[in-house]
Amino acid sequence: TDRYAVIGNPIAHSKSPTIHAAFAAQTGEPIEYGRILGDLNDFAGDVRRFVAEGGRGLNVTVPFKTDAFELLDDLSEQARTAGAVNTLIVRDGGLLRGDNTDGVGLLRDLTENHGFALAGKRVLLLGAGGAARGVLRPLFDARPAELLIANRTAEKAEALATQLATSAIASPETRADAQIDQQETAVSGCGLVALRSQRFDLIINATSSGLDDQVPAIPDHCLAAGGWVYDLLYANEPTPFCRWGQTHGAARVLDGLGMLVEQAAESFWLWRGVRPQTAPVIDLLRHG
Ligand code: ATR
Repeated sequence: TDRYAVIGNPIAHSKSPTIHAAFAAQTGEPIEYGRILGDLNDFAGDVRRFVAEGGRGLNVTVPFKTDAFELLDDLSEQARTAGAVNTLIVRDGGLLRGDNTDGVGLLRDLTENHGFALAGKRVLLLGAGGAARGVLRPLFDARPAELLIANRTAEKAEALATQLATSAIASPETRADAQIDQQETAVSGCGLVALRSQRFDLIINATSSGLDDQVPAIPDHCLAAGGWVYDLLYANEPTPFCRWGQTHGAARVLDGLGMLVEQAAESFWLWRGVRPQTAPVIDLLRHG
């Protein structure tokens, strides 16, 4: 049996052990998956100990994703552009590699589970912290017509937009096949207060405002007709931003449960080389 775990602080609420236990049962992979309450002052020590005890991989969650990024030398392109690691892989011989499956998880949920085609769409990404950084590049690579990052603190959104544009020029190869018209994506960043009359086909909430039971202060009429709302946050009750979507005419309102299961499936695949089915696990978590 190979050992895996999720490390975070707090950790008691994490759904990852349930998700990976379901993947293991479904695929017959011989793994056990635990949870580790990380030491806020010694993340590196916790990782060292886990590996010394024979651990094969970790999921990394709040607040250690940047610590993991800084700790590891061998990083995937996804981890590098996100500046964060959510999946740690222990190679034969004990070498550690960092990856980030959050962006892939969001894209899979949006496009494959729900059939939303990003190409040519106007997308508004709210927030400019770690969660926003994690999904930014995969969103861009799906070739929306517009990708606007809006944040309470405008400078952070502007910096992120500049950084994305720069990295896109440096490594264009990850983008999805060009559309017939070779459409480019207009990337920019601004403050929430600068949002006025624009309309968006998809609004993604990547702020942590929901944890304080709040929503970002955006205008009432940001959604285009038929526009969708996606909250990266997930809770048993509809999140504050999902409720915002419901009362502001969103055609579809999605929370982060699908992304949570999809990013876990991608981690499982990186570790085991086996792709679990996600739909039954999403169902299990949604309905118990
Ligand atoms: P995370 O890893 O969850 O992204 P973070 O890096 O601390 O956490 O970033 C939190 C994000 O949520 C930031 O974009 C923050 O906006 P600021 O950069 O202006 O601080 C945003 N945020 C948090 N609470 C918010 C609120 N009540 N309204 C709008 N934005 C909020």
